[in-house]
Amino acid sequence: MTKIRIGVIGAGLIGRKHLRKLAGHDDYELVGIADVNAEQVAAEQPGARVFKDYRELLAEARPDAAIIASPNQLHAENGIACARAGVHILIEKPVTDMLQTAAGLIAEVSKASVKSLVGHHRRHHTQVKTLKALLADGRIGDVVGVSAIWATHKPATYFEIAPWRSQAGGGPILINLIHEIDFLRFTLGEIIAVEAISANRQRGFAVEDTAVALIAFESGALGTFFLSDCAVTPWTTEQGLGEAPEFPFSGQSSYRLMGRRGAIEFPSLDQWTQDGGAQDWNRPIQAQANHAASIDPYVAQLDHFRDVIRGVAPSLQPVEDGARSLLATLAIAEAASAGRRIDLRERYAAFATGQAAGVRQGAT
Ligand SMILES: NC(=O)c1ccc[n+]([C@@H]2O[C@H](COP(=O)([O-])OP(=O)(O)OC[C@H]3O[C@@H](n4cnc5c(N)ncnc54)[C@H](O)[C@@H]3O)[C@@H](O)[C@H]2O)c1
Repeated sequence: MTKIRIGVIGAGLIGRKHLRKLAGHDDYELVGIADVNAEQVAAEQPGARVFKDYRELLAEARPDAAIIASPNQLHAENGIACARAGVHILIEKPVTDMLQTAAGLIAEVSKASVKSLVGHHRRHHTQVKTLKALLADGRIGDVVGVSAIWATHKPATYFEIAPWRSQAGGGPILINLIHEIDFLRFTLGEIIAVEAISANRQRGFAVEDTAVALIAFESGALGTFFLSDCAVTPWTTEQGLGEAPEFPFSGQSSYRLMGRRGAIEFPSLDQWTQDGGAQDWNRPIQAQANHAASIDPYVAQLDHFRDVIRGVAPSLQPVEDGARSLLATLAIAEAASAGRRIDLRERYAAFATGQAAGVRQGAT
């Protein structure tokens, strides 16, 4: 089968990771890279065609598909240009920086009938797919709720090299929690309301260093989320899965999902049930192991993108779904600053009908 001719827009931290994965993938042919730092990228990527302007990449290299790994603020512009050129897109998360720009991107992708996949790579882990399958199989019955943590200590250099990270929009809600919100939506279904409290007392930055969120799901399940980037713990999805060498493996679960017939931890997938499916607090409860092999989610994401482009599989996350994860995450930031519960159903509806103008903006 002919290879998919692919370009990469933005060869920074994650763009370089995509380039490494593409180099080992037989179904893709890299036809060009676009980065404003073209000289530096050309030196790092010998043999690759490097363009300073992404529009030249589209016009001259004429890729079938592109990975958009530029800064958030450029995602919509890059994605719209790709759609107009008939180029399928794998677009990094968050889908865009703001809901209005997401609406423009969704319209152009739909108009051009190009395929889209948002780079919430967690969806491609076998542990995540197995969790979804176990829940669908009724292993813990109807889900009553979830208790989750994402807490780690970012080093001082993280803020020194990028001072925007200590300002509004640069904190853990919009940078880190969006992955977890997307994971929750993917595994437990749509989020319909949120409340939140945030604090900046530990670091003293303008942006939050810690937050707690209350989450209501369409299914009736409820969730609590504790988030902090200034606490030393083994409880982040990155550490629990060992998904990248920069986050050393802890193997610890940071999610506890609770159902009418049992409970399950993630990512360990340890399952807790009583004999014979009993529901009785006086009966003993036992753990049972479920195994899911660890794979490279970025390679699995490329495999899936290939299948989406070839029409073999529907996209696990088209741009319109990525916008919902953005909307829910922005609402948590807003709920924390406004100190009130936010109902998301009207916002989803308004967004879906292209009336996003009234929705608060602000992701970076
Ligand atoms: N899925 C993940 O695991 C993951 C991880 C990190 C970042 N991200 C996302 O990927 C995106 C990039 O993040 P990053 O950490 O790699 O950032 P980065 O700053 O390291 O890289 C961005 C790159 O884009 C280039 N660039 C800037 N303006 C450009 C333009 N006009 N045209 C072409 N290139 C341009 C920069 O020179 C830089 O090389 C962000 O949206 C981020 O949220 C995703």
